[in-house]
Amino acid sequence: MPTNSINRRTFLEFLGKAVAVGSLVPTFIPLATSYYKDLKGISPSQEDKLKLAKGLNFDVLVKWEDAISEKDTFGFNNDFTAFLPLEEGNSDDGILWVNHEYVDPFFVSNHVGGEKSKEQVEKEMYNVGGSILRVKKDDKGKWKVVENDPLNKRVNGLTDIPFNWDHPIAGKTSAMGTLGNCSGGVTPWGTILTCEENYDMFYGERDFKSGKRIEKKAFLAWHTQYDNPPEHYGWVVEVDPQTGKAQKHIALGRCAHECATIKELEDGRLVVYSGDDSVNQFLYKFISSEPGSLSKGTLYVANTLLGKWIPLVHEENAILKKVFKDQTDVLIQMRKAAKYIGATPLDRPEDIEIDPVNGNVLVSLTNNSTKKNYFGSILKIEETDGDHAALTFKPSLYLAGGEETGFACPDNMAFDKAGNLWITSDISGSLMNKEPYLPFKNNGLFVVPRSGPQAGKVIQMASAPSDAELTGPFFAPDGKTLFLSVQHPGEYSSGPDDLTSHWPDGGDNIPRPAVVAITGKTLDALQGTE
Ligand code: FEO
Ligand code: CA
Ligand code: CA
Ligand code: CA
Repeated sequence: MPTNSINRRTFLEFLGKAVAVGSLVPTFIPLATSYYKDLKGISPSQEDKLKLAKGLNFDVLVKWEDAISEKDTFGFNNDFTAFLPLEEGNSDDGILWVNHEYVDPFFVSNHVGGEKSKEQVEKEMYNVGGSILRVKKDDKGKWKVVENDPLNKRVNGLTDIPFNWDHPIAGKTSAMGTLGNCSGGVTPWGTILTCEENYDMFYGERDFKSGKRIEKKAFLAWHTQYDNPPEHYGWVVEVDPQTGKAQKHIALGRCAHECATIKELEDGRLVVYSGDDSVNQFLYKFISSEPGSLSKGTLYVANTLLGKWIPLVHEENAILKKVFKDQTDVLIQMRKAAKYIGATPLDRPEDIEIDPVNGNVLVSLTNNSTKKNYFGSILKIEETDGDHAALTFKPSLYLAGGEETGFACPDNMAFDKAGNLWITSDISGSLMNKEPYLPFKNNGLFVVPRSGPQAGKVIQMASAPSDAELTGPFFAPDGKTLFLSVQHPGEYSSGPDDLTSHWPDGGDNIPRPAVVAITGKTLDALQGTE
């Protein structure tokens, strides 16, 4: 059993049968091969549409404010998605987890200035976190949320969530809610890791010298109604999709966690990779000392110049001992601790995927304005001897963004059954369709074929509606469905009469973040599953 409090047996029992651990999680089996001779992509587009390449179709599965049960509605700004089949071998019926990253007060709480009321703050709090949905293909092959299914529920900014740690965090053993839920991961035992990214926009950050809250970072100013400590946010949170029960894993450290990508070692211990998506911040990995534990183990930070993982252990490091009180303090102020011990600043690490064929670790580095790196790149980490527990690695450039490759600002990634790499882009809304991003137009979804004459090329497969970003790509285990979030369409609308997007409902409707299910013969052909 894992040492964490979410019970693996409960989850298996709920499935009603004994399932081998690991079979719940859509793991890649490199059997499918595709030799797509002439995959035709789409050109960049400025249209307010979700445009797809030929041979792909989408259904809007769920959108902001849709009722998912008698008491709950779907949250705002959907990001990471994860599909977990309810039965082994059935990719047409399962649980869909969806992250809700942040809110746009203009749409969510109708706040346009002045102090927010408690009701407005609570409305915003309710709309972040995550949604748990039972989703199923109907007789016509169309994906639907199963209305009022007992599994449907929300985790949000008001949910009480305990810390998985021996010591209190800012004097408490639990936090009010989770927020900033950007990307994430799936554990080998079928729970979800949801990552608290830009946590400072909600409750600000602590000035650890004065002990005061830095309020200017708290754009959403939730602290004006709830005096929650900033230290309670910026963690990797585990959620059991059966019960909605959650816990915050302190051992993985505190930062603007983009994602948490797990590799289970042969002896059952875990390696978790996670990046801190902030300019010139770092890449981390946690190696557990016990099988299935996300609390016992060692946290490391990457020095990509030396190809070394450096331990962030208070007791073993004279500098850390001098500057920080104890290990809890090191974990709360992880960025500062990592900087002291020689971590290498990176160009905003976003999603991390492990190549299922060769074990290479790919890290999206989205861009770095301070280095005039506008288009970003994908970093390849080859762990020594292919061992994810190695403490040395070889870093290299895997793919560079830019006009030559046709994409800019890589963010989320996913591998399909044939080992093709899918990448989404995240050009900031304030810069989209402006220099130097003009040629790329709206954000998109791209595929890099693994084999065939187009191997290694970047081909655009989707273009997002106005101001939106495509996020959270996740394949059903049979590869026949790609779940995808459309986040923040119309974010730069200046008022109700000047909406920049009306997606997905069209007409005069307000834009709504939504999750779509993509299917079609191009998806099948790419993976050799047609
Ligand atoms: Fe929420 Fe780093 O993207
Ligand atoms: Ca992201
Ligand atoms: Ca991913
Ligand atoms: Ca991003």
